[in-house]
Amino acid sequence: MRITILAATGGIGSHLLDQALAAGHEVTAVVRSPQKLPATRARVVAADLADPDPAALRTAVEGADAVLSGLGPRSKSDAEAGVVRRGTSAAIAAMREAGVRRLVVVSAAPVGTVPSPARPNPPRHDPGDGFLLRTVAYPVLKAALRPNYADLARMEDALRDSGLDWTAVRPVRLTDQPLTGHYRTAQGRNLRHGLLISRADVAHCMLAALDRPDSIGRTIGIAR
Ligand SMILES: NC(=O)c1ccc[n+]([C@@H]2O[C@H](COP(=O)([O-])OP(=O)(O)OC[C@H]3O[C@@H](n4cnc5c(N)ncnc54)[C@H](OP(=O)(O)O)[C@@H]3O)[C@@H](O)[C@H]2O)c1
Repeated sequence: MRITILAATGGIGSHLLDQALAAGHEVTAVVRSPQKLPATRARVVAADLADPDPAALRTAVEGADAVLSGLGPRSKSDAEAGVVRRGTSAAIAAMREAGVRRLVVVSAAPVGTVPSPARPNPPRHDPGDGFLLRTVAYPVLKAALRPNYADLARMEDALRDSGLDWTAVRPVRLTDQPLTGHYRTAQGRNLRHGLLISRADVAHCMLAALDRPDSIGRTIGIAR
């Protein structure tokens, strides 16, 4: 397949790049700092996704079978500026112009219960979250990372409004453990007793979603 990867220098993004190339895909890597990329046979397009040049993004997605995004804020101010929503919305616009339909992005496990302009009254609890997560861990996390989750919730609004064949993967806490290919997923909900997942396995799941038409228009919870 021809795959465009947004934020290919990130934790998940670099695994997406390595795994997509290893699987024999033809890859375009969209990065704001090309000098951070190790030597690669991917085509490289430079773009700052906080304020993207539409022409550069259009070039990056043109002819792709799918776009995968590992975009995430590097700082609190990035999150407050809504970098994920902005970059993803720009990618959606470029994809619509170029006639590219498949988009798989990374979101986060708590986002299903975060209010957003299009979902002002989300469910109070995710059915996959156990008592301690609901009552202790997520309230603390949501307070600490409010701008991050608000940005991701707005990004998911943009996906639902896009008319594209989107999938949002919602991982629990990320680790740098190696790829296993052994993890649990659930459509539209989080996983019971799932607290950790490696960035490598999230990338694996995102690539696997390209062969799963049933994941289109869905969120996917993922945990070890
Ligand atoms: N940490 C967790 O436990 C956790 C759990 C669930 C979900 N998540 C979500 O998963 C996301 C991805 O995680 P990760 O560990 O792979 O993140 P990461 O290593 O921080 O990677 C973020 C990527 O986004 C890129 N980026 C940021 N701002 C950009 C901009 N203005 N223009 C272009 N690229 C930009 C970064 O590029 P540079 O390399 O140039 O900075 C980097 O490639 C997180 O941001 C978060 O939203 C995290």
